[in-house]
Amino acid sequence: DQQADRPARLLAWYDRHRRRLPWRAEAGERADPYRVWLSEIMLQQTTVRAVGPYFEKFLSRWPDVTALGRASLDDVLRMWAGLGYYSRARNLHACAVVVLNNHDGVFPDTEDGLRALPGIGPYTAAAIAAIAFDRRTMPVDGNIERVVTRLYAIEAALPQAKPLIKEMAATLLGPSRAGDKNSRAGDSAQALMDLGATICTPKKPACALCPLNDDCAGHARGDQETFPRKAPK
Ligand code: ADE
Repeated sequence: DQQADRPARLLAWYDRHRRRLPWRAEAGERADPYRVWLSEIMLQQTTVRAVGPYFEKFLSRWPDVTALGRASLDDVLRMWAGLGYYSRARNLHACAVVVLNNHDGVFPDTEDGLRALPGIGPYTAAAIAAIAFDRRTMPVDGNIERVVTRLYAIEAALPQAKPLIKEMAATLLGPSRAGDKNSRAGDSAQALMDLGATICTPKKPACALCPLNDDCAGHARGDQETFPRKAPK
């Protein structure tokens, strides 16, 4: 039925239309946890377009977490200059030091393990766990909130609706093939991010191009642009 094959349709769309971004692995290749982590920290408060050059600069200067953990904080802050929200750079360096000293330079591969590191909150832990380690978890950012609230016409308002949105977002993960791993969870998450950025946009979404349009509750009602609902200030 329609609902059951949403995850498959989403992945098929992603395979054809995904954005080529410098931190993404080629199809079928395993993503590098260091690149995924670095990009997710940079993307926390900065657009994909602005992050690109910084990501490349960091990667050529410090190609892995060991190199970054051995760098001085001053050098990291200098390289970060212009990206803003400098606590991110401090936490980035602190995190690299912890991974180097306490984890033999290897990122933890679970959501809880990642969550314990400096600068990694619930969203970022879920994003890295899914994208780098194929853990079956759905990170929910603003793009994904918009897609999911439209798809299910969720009337509850943000921020109260967050737990419900998280639960509904998880229905878009494919079935697991080997327990927790091998679910293409990272591709499912990035498919929703790309859908939100390119098709399911805040204003005038391009529903005709959406792989989920024929069973989107918001589209069926015609008021898709009114989601997500926001609590009055
Ligand atoms: N925003 C946050 N993480 C992202 C990712 N992995 N791809 C695209 N946009 C993002």
